[in-house]
Amino acid sequence: MTAPKKLFIKTYGCQMNVYDSERMAESLGGQGYIATDRAAEADMILLNTCHIREKAAEKVYSELGRLRPLKEANPGLKIGVAGCVAQAEGAEIMARQPLVDLVVGPQSYHRLPELEAKAQRGEKALDTDFPEEDKFDHLTARPKARRGPTAFLTVQEGCDKFCAFCVVPYTRGAEVSRPADRVMGEARDLVERGVREITLLGQNVNAYHGHDRGLSGLIRDLAGIDGLERIRFTTSHPNDMDDDLIAAHGDCDKLMPYLHLPVQSGSDKILKAMNRKHTAESYIRLIERFRVVRPDLLLSGDFIVGFPGETEADFQATLDLVEAVGYGQAYSFKYSARPGTPAAERAEVDAGEADARLQRLQALLTRQQKATQDGMVGREVTVLFEKPGRMAGQMVGKSEYLHAVHVTSDTVVRGDLAKVRIVESERNSLGGEVIGAVS
Ligand code: 5AD
Ligand code: SF4
Repeated sequence: MTAPKKLFIKTYGCQMNVYDSERMAESLGGQGYIATDRAAEADMILLNTCHIREKAAEKVYSELGRLRPLKEANPGLKIGVAGCVAQAEGAEIMARQPLVDLVVGPQSYHRLPELEAKAQRGEKALDTDFPEEDKFDHLTARPKARRGPTAFLTVQEGCDKFCAFCVVPYTRGAEVSRPADRVMGEARDLVERGVREITLLGQNVNAYHGHDRGLSGLIRDLAGIDGLERIRFTTSHPNDMDDDLIAAHGDCDKLMPYLHLPVQSGSDKILKAMNRKHTAESYIRLIERFRVVRPDLLLSGDFIVGFPGETEADFQATLDLVEAVGYGQAYSFKYSARPGTPAAERAEVDAGEADARLQRLQALLTRQQKATQDGMVGREVTVLFEKPGRMAGQMVGKSEYLHAVHVTSDTVVRGDLAKVRIVESERNSLGGEVIGAVS
């Protein structure tokens, strides 16, 4: 028997890339590859890339440069670029970095086995099609091995919204939903393998239409799976929220009280220029509806500062919206012009000014985040334990609000769901004491 070949995958970007990397590893498993976390011993290195901002894309080229000595030491090593940079730049990657053997986009990676064989023959292998066939129908069946208690599950991909700043409609293509029965089947398999929490993924996950009652219909069906204890979903668009998805936050116990709902800006003028098709007011009203059914909902958002045309008054409107909403978690970015998007043609805000605004926004968001976290002290939460902590005897997991919580306990093990009283709030996590099992 020949020794198995070793595969090293480095994942950039969003959770969907994390899910795709798992599926790619499984797919190459069928070609005799086993995973390694050491690039130096790999026979194949795949970078699963992100194109969302310029910095993210440039990281890929610097990483490829760093791989040169490995390729020199092991000429049999195959290097591949997958994901959104692969989709956006295609053959350009091989031209710019000749050590790349394989380039595969996010909608064609079910063809990895053929591409790998081509690379092994010494040919350059490239596939950035948006194929007719559904990749999920052609991917290797998922293995049955035990796995950790949390998993991502892609249910929807692509975007038809065309926000003026965003590459996603070009890298991931048009909105496509996976049929509910396939999602249910994959979820049941994950639960059989030890998963207790599933995060449903989509670039516009609440535009999911693979179920006749949309995303909330899927969530309600998933909630019927014994052994699946927690359901989350990300990322949503404010315009795709429907009444039943809001209601589910109040009446579906397994749906966690955490909502990531990007708004990007608090200025109606900028929201219009971004082609968001909602206003700051309509966003705030929507959040209020969620809070009626789930007062303790923890809100998370995405913000872009320095979008072309943003004035100090527009930026102030973003700060005002943040004050009005109150975020427990947030991600904020300086606008980055992306080739091919409508906004890339427009005059940019002074870079120094954009930096200063980002710092001001982040200071406010960090304050809100810390206040939310500190407000958990004394409260009882449930924690799904995922792994040992940094200190001996510690276990770490996530509360229903997605806060990292650590406890010192010799009774809880990975995969346990326990009631925990929060006793301290640290920089990025909470400390707690186990007070009992969840029945
Ligand atoms: N520049 C800066 N941030 C961006 N995002 C998307 N495109 C850009 C861009 N061109 C941010 C948005 C989005 C998140 C995933 O990344 O806030 O919600
Ligand atoms: Fe990055 Fe968007 Fe692609 Fe995810 S879908 S990897 S965030 S460009």
